[in-house]
Amino acid sequence: APVVVAIDGPAGSGKSTVSRAVAARLGLSFLDTGAMYRAMTWWMLANEVDVQDADAVAIACGKPVIVSGTDAAGPTITVDGQDVSGPIRSQEVTSQVSAVAAVPQVRARLVELQRGCAEVAERGIVAEGRDMGSVVFPEATAKIFLTASEAARAERRAAELRAKGVDAATITAMAADLARRDAADSSRETAPLVQAADAVLVDTSDLTLEQVIDRIAGLVEE
Ligand code: CDP
Repeated sequence: APVVVAIDGPAGSGKSTVSRAVAARLGLSFLDTGAMYRAMTWWMLANEVDVQDADAVAIACGKPVIVSGTDAAGPTITVDGQDVSGPIRSQEVTSQVSAVAAVPQVRARLVELQRGCAEVAERGIVAEGRDMGSVVFPEATAKIFLTASEAARAERRAAELRAKGVDAATITAMAADLARRDAADSSRETAPLVQAADAVLVDTSDLTLEQVIDRIAGLVEE
């Protein structure tokens, strides 16, 4: 069976950086499923769909063509052929994505695309998100649940934003939004963020990036 490494966890746990690095080290493809939910949200906002209206989102979600490039050296994401890798990180998308991701029809559509990416991955794939181990890839080769203390997660996200030149007030607002998003992702009915029963918990609060990568690569090679 092809190698599938499922990595889940809350925002700021280091998931994206770690997952991409593990994929590069092991020569596997890489899939950022959060980017797909962000791309769907970006399209909804661009097309003036009321993202708080779950029925409207459910009806519209079949329309955008979302394509994820899975090269760990340079992942890409397009919507209807347009590169949206920048715009999907905007504060507006970030603040609305949990509402869109809670709609079952959105999840059904994106889960299908995610499984398709895994099927065509030449040597296997590292897939990161919220429900990789619990829903999308129940038979994954390895399942990892990445966490970090709330303080460590908030600090990492703030450092990322500072590096991008974001001002202090916006960083404070985004920290509050991060907590709200985690609560929403963990409490929704469809595919909430939970540690799968057979997932290995890795707490990254006191580990360096290198240590986390070593640990996960080791778990995959076991
Ligand atoms: O990078 P960050 O932790 O900010 O979030 P992300 O991985 O880009 O995911 C953005 C949002 O998409 C999450 O807050 C979830 O609402 C949703 N998501 C999801 O529901 N299921 C996934 N497999 C991945 C993301």
